[in-house]
Amino acid sequence: MKVQLENITLAYGEATAIDRLSVTVEDGESLVLLGKSGCGKTSTMRCVAGLETPTGGRITIGDTVVFDGERGVRVAPNKRNVGMVFQSYAVWPHRTIFQNVAFPLQQQRLPKAEIRERVADVLALVGLTEYAERGASLLSGGQMQRVALARSLVMRPSVLLLDEPLSNLDARLRDRLRVELREIQQRLGLTCVYVTHDQSEALALADRIALMQGGRIVQIDRPEKIYDAPSSAAIADFLGVSNIFPCAPAGPGSAPATYRLTGHATEVTSDTPAAGTGKDPRVCIRPEDIRLTGEPATGANSWPGRVDVVSFQGSYVRYRVSLKDGPELDAVVPRRATRMLDVGTPVWASADPDAVQILPAEVPA
Ligand SMILES: Nc1ncnc2c1ncn2[C@@H]1O[C@H](COP(=O)(O)OP(=O)(O)OP(=O)(O)O)[C@@H](O)[C@H]1O
Ligand SMILES: [Mg+2]
Repeated sequence: MKVQLENITLAYGEATAIDRLSVTVEDGESLVLLGKSGCGKTSTMRCVAGLETPTGGRITIGDTVVFDGERGVRVAPNKRNVGMVFQSYAVWPHRTIFQNVAFPLQQQRLPKAEIRERVADVLALVGLTEYAERGASLLSGGQMQRVALARSLVMRPSVLLLDEPLSNLDARLRDRLRVELREIQQRLGLTCVYVTHDQSEALALADRIALMQGGRIVQIDRPEKIYDAPSSAAIADFLGVSNIFPCAPAGPGSAPATYRLTGHATEVTSDTPAAGTGKDPRVCIRPEDIRLTGEPATGANSWPGRVDVVSFQGSYVRYRVSLKDGPELDAVVPRRATRMLDVGTPVWASADPDAVQILPAEVPA
């Protein structure tokens, strides 16, 4: 079901947690909220769930206005049909899995047969059928998180809010559950809002990503669009662009334009037009767009340096290269592309001008 937030503001005393935030989550869409700690992600979810009362604005779920500051509308949390899954699983350890998942339905006093059927359905969906009669204290972290998910799904929520549901799990389990979650969301056509700190989780789960900063959304788009064209260096940083340097135009500002890195002799040429980068521009280059060669590359952006750190990552190798008269660069090279370089090897690092983005440090809020 479509969820619409219009001009939502939320203050805790003097502090503004959400600042005139507007966004529409389409029916069946998975929207991921991404942003620094304290930028207002959890607060936004709590407002949708009705656990927090905004200072102003309007929230609509489907065709129902559930909050309207001006008209004094405020629908109670349990009447909104919104499911929430948090970082901490909140599973009752002394009950069985069946009892944990059945609880919200028993509260609604549904017939026993219907409860049994609905619980069996969601346990199958999250892959816990064989564990139904097991005590919840005997579960692993990943299984508990599935119980929490099943307990939300059994209510057949029109909107599911997930606040870092996988962050307590180890990396492999997180990877697996992420794919399962995406599958369940797409299969059921669930409207989801998902909060995470993890960029690869965001990219994998989102139909659209909303980047938040200071209680506002500063960029919202499809994952591949944000990945290719972040609107600020702060956003690029969030999406794994590890080469970010303050810079100043070295010449007249037309594309291709040359910049000098602040505090260094290094010059960088970019295809991005110099316009619109404001007072505080940054050179941003993805580590996978840096090439390492034994000879200088032809054309712009070839810098001499030496390998400082080599880190083998399986399918790729991550290098840190210190440039002569320049900063350190991160380079990510596919394992099979070249033989591995040793620490201390002199190299030339290069990047195509179209892989160099000049972005403002932050989008003005
Ligand atoms: N109950 C509260 N009382 C006072 N201030 C609060 C309360 N809850 C949150 N805040 C403040 O509101 C702002 C937004 O908090 P919120 O929890 O929404 O951030 P977040 O984006 O979820 O952060 P994190 O990634 O750390 O979970 C923060 O500055 C926080 O300190
Ligand atoms: Mg939070």
